[in-house]
Amino acid sequence: MKKPEVVKQIGREYVTEDEDSIIEEMMSEMIAQVDRMYADKKMLRQIHTKMHGCVKATFKVEENLPEELKVGVFKKPATYNAWVRFSNSNTKPKPDKKKDIRGIAIKLMGVPGDKILNDQRTEKSQDFLLMTSETFFSKNIAEFRKTLKAATSKHGINMLLYILNPAHLRLLLHVSKSKVKCANPLDMEYWSTQPYQFGAPDKAVKYFLKPSPDNIILNENVKEENYLRINMAQTLYNNSAEFDFFVQFQTDAETMPIEDPTVEWTSQFIKMATLTIVPQEFDSNEQMTFGENLSFNSWHSLPEHRPLGSFNRARRRIYEAMSKYRHEKNGLPVFEPKDSPDFLPPKREQNVETIAEPIPKRGILKRSAQVLVDSDKSTAFNFISSNSELPNWLKKVGPIPAALNAEILKGPYNFVGARRKVFFDGGDTVVEELMTFNPYANYSYSVTEFSNFLRFFSKKAYGQVWIDRINDQTRITWEYSFSYRNILARLILSLFLTILYKKFLKKSLENAKGYIENGD
Ligand code: HEM
Repeated sequence: MKKPEVVKQIGREYVTEDEDSIIEEMMSEMIAQVDRMYADKKMLRQIHTKMHGCVKATFKVEENLPEELKVGVFKKPATYNAWVRFSNSNTKPKPDKKKDIRGIAIKLMGVPGDKILNDQRTEKSQDFLLMTSETFFSKNIAEFRKTLKAATSKHGINMLLYILNPAHLRLLLHVSKSKVKCANPLDMEYWSTQPYQFGAPDKAVKYFLKPSPDNIILNENVKEENYLRINMAQTLYNNSAEFDFFVQFQTDAETMPIEDPTVEWTSQFIKMATLTIVPQEFDSNEQMTFGENLSFNSWHSLPEHRPLGSFNRARRRIYEAMSKYRHEKNGLPVFEPKDSPDFLPPKREQNVETIAEPIPKRGILKRSAQVLVDSDKSTAFNFISSNSELPNWLKKVGPIPAALNAEILKGPYNFVGARRKVFFDGGDTVVEELMTFNPYANYSYSVTEFSNFLRFFSKKAYGQVWIDRINDQTRITWEYSFSYRNILARLILSLFLTILYKKFLKKSLENAKGYIENGD
């Protein structure tokens, strides 16, 4: 006999009978996989493994929300302190340039009221987990179980067979569309994809997070393995990054289903709060480890924001169990961070100057060098940008002469538009003008009026310096971009840069390292 059609209702979940066994199966496959991957090392998350950073933020609820939106954390115009963890979703950490689904996990602290989970009842956290795709690739957990089984299998052949099965084409195309390139996690849009209750049981919403168009985002590096961390650190050193947090109501139970997250909801987005990631240094080993050891879970929640749908029901069991398992294996306690009045780093005077003129992308030849230094960022930045230290690290390399001194034309040499004339051994000179100056993170300058042979090949060059932290050392990256006058000039410049200039950059940074570390 045909089952009677169920008329779906807004906010209502529709649980299938086999859910429990599917969830059990999924969990044991995930556990088996992390057991294999981390048998003899610190256990990381089964998914969303690669963290770019765990940063401090505030979550400010909109003032003057209408009565019907004053629910849960949005009840009053409060400002919560928050931890925010950015990640790539892949189980195996890959270079950031690979397409991937990217994740954001937000943990508000100091949220009053009993929470849903027994172990979390008196905790003060409310978590929101979102990803960079608007819809989820799988319709329900019965379908997802097959994908997970193939993905977690120790035999590669199982994934291959899964991919070759035409019945999986829709899902695979959806996964492929969901994987995106990313230059900076602070510049992405994120969606919850799954629904959540909004106060009353007959109200459901999805969440959406959109970066402010006014954010200053630095994306200089898109090559290195972990450039997302570096670009985030460069950006947040002097700038904040704001996101608008929206809800989107379920307005039609059939066309905007609770139980099928592959379907996009089409109702309007309503701004509820502003997430502000404050300027900070987050890339110390200590803070990265802290972020690794946190547990984010969509069920760390007030009942007013109860997670809905089969994926969320699966996540209830899976996140708690996986986090416990990971922490136990690592000999660490599962904990929730506490809020405190001095949570946010002291406000630093922001020195954000606009780039007078961007460095052109075309007609340019680039060379760069890097060095790791045992010092803090400020010591390295102050040395390398100092006018008086110039002769101590720009020494003769092959036919490239040493710098003797620099005369300030417009100074001091620490603001956009400052100019200096650099004198080299043998009488040559160049004029440098600061284009950006963001103390202890980066600066850039133009180089003109070459008096040496370079003037025949290039009208203008650009220098860029970035300072970042790699495993408790400071890294200095110095990049030179030369414009070329014509094709012949391009050829000659290219030879000059490859044979001599790269060496000059490298040697100079090594000289700088000697001075910064030992004073010679
Ligand atoms: C049934 C579907 C899903 C399963 C089985 C699942 C599973 C997991 C697991 C096991 C973790 C690691 C937890 C830990 O070890 O602490 C995780 C983390 C995460 N998941 Fe899911 N997930 C699912 C759906 C989603 C969805 C729909 C989203 C967002 C739209 C999402 C976003 C995230 C994020 C952002 C993290 C990283 C949390 C962190 O930074 O610690 N997941 N997921």
